Amino acid sequence: MDVFKTEQENFWAGEFGDEYVARNRGASLLASNIAFFAEILHYTCSVNTVIEFGANIGLNLEAIKHLLPQSELSAIEINQKAVNELRSWGEVKVYPQTILDFSPDYARDFVLIKGVLIHINPESLTRVYDVLYQTSKRYICIAEYYNPMPVEVPYRGHRGKLFKRDFAGEMLDRFKDLILVKYGFCYHRDYNFPQDDITWFLLEKSTW
Ligand SMILES: C[S@@+](CC[C@H](N)C(=O)[O-])C[C@H]1O[C@@H](n2cnc3c(N)ncnc32)[C@H](O)[C@@H]1O
Repeated sequence: MDVFKTEQENFWAGEFGDEYVARNRGASLLASNIAFFAEILHYTCSVNTVIEFGANIGLNLEAIKHLLPQSELSAIEINQKAVNELRSWGEVKVYPQTILDFSPDYARDFVLIKGVLIHINPESLTRVYDVLYQTSKRYICIAEYYNPMPVEVPYRGHRGKLFKRDFAGEMLDRFKDLILVKYGFCYHRDYNFPQDDITWFLLEKSTW
């Protein structure tokens, strides 16, 4: 039975999301994430609170915990199996819900979204941009598949589930006090620390 408003939310809350949880884990992914966030966090300062939108089982947050051991971590996650794992880890405040209904209880220094905007229904994107912005005290990190123009591509044999575009550029257009601190790319053929061809953007509120 469909519980959520968009087909993309139901997809991630359901069987596909459960299988993703089973498939995406392990020491190599964690190592790649530590290298990835070590570079990005290099361009930040005073990050004490972190929240990830669509955290899955927490492999990004776990990497960040290695790099910023004192930081307070939070996660928003729609898939119940992933939520169970986040809870059993015990290091993270979990919001077991859809991003599309999230409203922040307090702002965090570093707001992260990685590999999730690409799976949001394009008609709901402005809602997500707004809540990312509202949740951030200072930094927003967007790590997604980039394309200069919006395009849809098949995702593991599914249609309507993967969209690439210039997410960070759209946020910079929407929120005039955001500045681009740094951006970069991580290649799937990196010898030591691959990512899935992710382009990352670190944005900062100029008026924080
Ligand atoms: C491709 S995975 C990426 C996971 C993680 N961010 C990473 O980089 O490894 C997408 C994640 O976002 C979650 N997700 C997708 N749509 C969501 C929504 N509307 N609200 C909350 N979580 C969502 C999925 O359940 C899944 O855990």
